[in-house]
Amino acid sequence: MELSRLLAERYSVRKFQDRPLSREDLSIILKAVLTTPTGCNYQPQRVYVAESPDALEKLNRLSKCIFGAKTVLIFTYDSSEDWKNPLEEGIHSGVQDVSIAACHAMLQAWELGIGNCWVNYFANSVLERELGLPETERAVLLMPIGYPAPDAAPLPLHSSSKPVGDVVRYI
Ligand SMILES: Cc1cc2nc3c(=O)[nH]c(=O)nc-3n(C[C@H](O)[C@H](O)[C@H](O)COP(=O)(O)O)c2cc1C
Repeated sequence: MELSRLLAERYSVRKFQDRPLSREDLSIILKAVLTTPTGCNYQPQRVYVAESPDALEKLNRLSKCIFGAKTVLIFTYDSSEDWKNPLEEGIHSGVQDVSIAACHAMLQAWELGIGNCWVNYFANSVLERELGLPETERAVLLMPIGYPAPDAAPLPLHSSSKPVGDVVRYI
């Protein structure tokens, strides 16, 4: 699929078929996470694949936005490994690195006919604790992912793009 068509057609899928991703599709999506640009190529992004009944039960307790998915990707980064900007104290690349990785996964999935939704609606520190993440890892987003249900459809929010003049400025 051409990228421009993919970008035009993609929407957040919130209703899935009742099955996890095939191992082949999952491995293609995970490969996309590995080939992402990161600050200085330090690659601090980490992805957890949640599919066990225990993990899914926990995630459903921690977020209302799992949408019945049988596979959920949890995107984190290791704050001891991300690029630190030497010109500005406190600016570091972890959230950007893992967000690009998640975008790659999102778009690669769509090309395979697989839908997903970026989810920030969870308490980060609670999730980090409940999943037992290493001390230096920060959770950034959850991504319920799977084959869209036959009646999956975009929310009205999807189609309301701001006019170009509100977003793009020439300087
Ligand atoms: C940073 C971020 C956080 C989001 N958090 C949630 C969320 O917690 N729950 C949810 O249902 N959708 C969430 N979304 C999906 C957005 O609502 C969705 O991308 C937006 O409404 C545009 O719709 P579309 O993706 O269908 O084009 C999030 C998206 C982003 C980029």
